[in-house]
Amino acid sequence: MSELSVNHLLGIKYLKKEDIDLIFKTADHFKEVINRPIKKVPSLRDITIANLFFENSTRTRLSFELAEKRLSADVINFSAASSSVKKGETLIDTVNNILAMKVDMVVMRHPNPGAGIFLSKHVDASIINAGDGTHEHPTQALLDSYSIREKLGEVANKKILIVGDIMHSRVALSNIFALKLQGAEVKVCGPKTLIPKYIESLGVSVETNLRKALEWCDVANMLRVQNERMEMSYFPTTREYTQQFGLNKEILDSLNKEIIVMHPGPINRGVEITSDVADSKQAIILEQVQNGVAVRMAVIYLLASKINR
Ligand code: NCD
Repeated sequence: MSELSVNHLLGIKYLKKEDIDLIFKTADHFKEVINRPIKKVPSLRDITIANLFFENSTRTRLSFELAEKRLSADVINFSAASSSVKKGETLIDTVNNILAMKVDMVVMRHPNPGAGIFLSKHVDASIINAGDGTHEHPTQALLDSYSIREKLGEVANKKILIVGDIMHSRVALSNIFALKLQGAEVKVCGPKTLIPKYIESLGVSVETNLRKALEWCDVANMLRVQNERMEMSYFPTTREYTQQFGLNKEILDSLNKEIIVMHPGPINRGVEITSDVADSKQAIILEQVQNGVAVRMAVIYLLASKINR
């Protein structure tokens, strides 16, 4: 396969295994580029990309912007806090006004699940979903799988554990789709109240005992509790959550094998993961961030090559 089967990246749900293979092969090339003294290629000199962030972000926004600049695209940035959205403008009007300035691609983070899918049906640009509420965060799942593949050689047949707030985490859902598509075994662990009832229908098993789950896995992806998405309490106190589902060095060192620890960031040190674990050699958190730029370059490059202008 030499091109993606999709014109937008709205979710991993819409990708085929071959799309992921192509993205990773392309990312391998860009990873080599960003480790050169001159970290830039002229590939997208004729492309303009708008980064529209209707929700807070540090890593994802900077990672996309850097990926776009390293491909030599023209970039404009928009954040909802300082925009006319506050004056009552609709999403379609906001985006159509931006597109009128001859923008080819939109990278959007939005609090509403499905916002990117909706936009892709109403505007004429290639859309990349940079996180839509509790729904999907496809580039995060791609960079996570890419990092596993880099560390373990492949994703197929590896045992991947996702710990924490499975219910409100778009990182969890996109990771589950991506990992299953590549033939990994996936288990989730967390408070029962934060594990959706449908999860097993996605081919995922559930374990509520963290130690047992850790003994099983090759990789543990520790998620942040998405407090900002909760209207009620799903567990008694943060202290109790940490006691039952937090990863500390004592547990990590007592396992019968060396597992890999991942986290999408931002980390709440001392809640889902202690500092000594986050900073340990088993954690690949900063490698994930580094791979994020190469993987996003690959996605943008492959989608841009499908734009008819
Ligand atoms: C994640 C997100 O925004 O969903 N962060 C990220 O993109 N790196 C995870 C989180 O906020 O917990």
